[in-house]
Amino acid sequence: MDTVDLDEKNGTLLIIDQTKLPAKLEVVALKTQQEIYEAIRNLQVRGAPAIGVAAAFGLYLAAKEIIENEFSAFFDRFKKASDFLRSSRPTAVNLSWALNRIEQTALSASDRPVSEIKGLIKEEALKMKYEDTAVCRAIGEHALPLINPHDGILTHCNAGWLATTKYGTALSPIYLAHERGYPIKVFADETRPLLQGARLTAFELESAGIDVTLICDNMASVVMKNGWVQSVFVGCDRVAANGDTANKIGTSSVAILARHYSIPFYVCAPTSTIDLDCKTGNDITIEERSADEVTQLWYKECMAPKNIKVFNPAFDVTDSSLITAFITERGVIRPPFSENISSLFQ
Ligand code: MRU
Repeated sequence: MDTVDLDEKNGTLLIIDQTKLPAKLEVVALKTQQEIYEAIRNLQVRGAPAIGVAAAFGLYLAAKEIIENEFSAFFDRFKKASDFLRSSRPTAVNLSWALNRIEQTALSASDRPVSEIKGLIKEEALKMKYEDTAVCRAIGEHALPLINPHDGILTHCNAGWLATTKYGTALSPIYLAHERGYPIKVFADETRPLLQGARLTAFELESAGIDVTLICDNMASVVMKNGWVQSVFVGCDRVAANGDTANKIGTSSVAILARHYSIPFYVCAPTSTIDLDCKTGNDITIEERSADEVTQLWYKECMAPKNIKVFNPAFDVTDSSLITAFITERGVIRPPFSENISSLFQ
């Protein structure tokens, strides 16, 4: 089953509805821009690479609906659709990266008939999906030598196949290690408040027959202190030019703990997640979400005083000094990050 797909015949975007997992593995078909916007906003489709590909397909569906034969009239409406999808979530750079790439496809063919441009947009969106799978596989291959057969690995949030088109980023080397018969043990942080670790990572790894233990976020230091964790692998939503990294809230606490216990902390990062326009983590916009995700979403009744003040940032920034290495599809990047990240793009 694909996390994200295009149903050309019915003109819909197909996604696995991640809000229904682990109870139900359900595919939903999204037709309108409003439905696609809401699916991204409400995390029915989530994970930086997956929302990038979903947005690319979404923008193709928007293009298909535009009945204009003249390029600038077409592009005006196309750009509005792109900006609307872009506004669904601010932190993962893959969303705007994907939309910019689709916009660029249209702009660079502006002298061609609009009907042909629509075909090019579709091809580009499909290409992005297949590229993502190859990128994830390559990240897994580069990261695999960092794992020893009997290792305990801790991961935070979900950076598995549900967050991408296949394999995942942080879970890719785990799947490859499992394929090669390594008896690894994975600790999945539950990832408060939206439980991506409990609902998605635990589901993915258990379904694949991988030894996975679910822990609450505040138990990470115990498993590390017990000597059960040899490395931490996480994904990311945006990496600044100096290596500061935005990922799911709680990631920076894990990195601080890993440093305390001298455990290597690896960030698996497709190069599409590196944003050279952000010089440091201070330039990354952090999404804040609604209070009810903290106080009542997973409970039968509100678990806090009714009008309690809540702070609910969806991401945090891990200081680059806490990161042992980035694993990209082009290889492993070690410090000094500013220099080594910049040379990756030269
Ligand atoms: O809010 P989410 O669930 O979309 O956050 C996802 C993460 O933080 C992932 O770790 C990140 O997107 C990497 S996915 C390969």
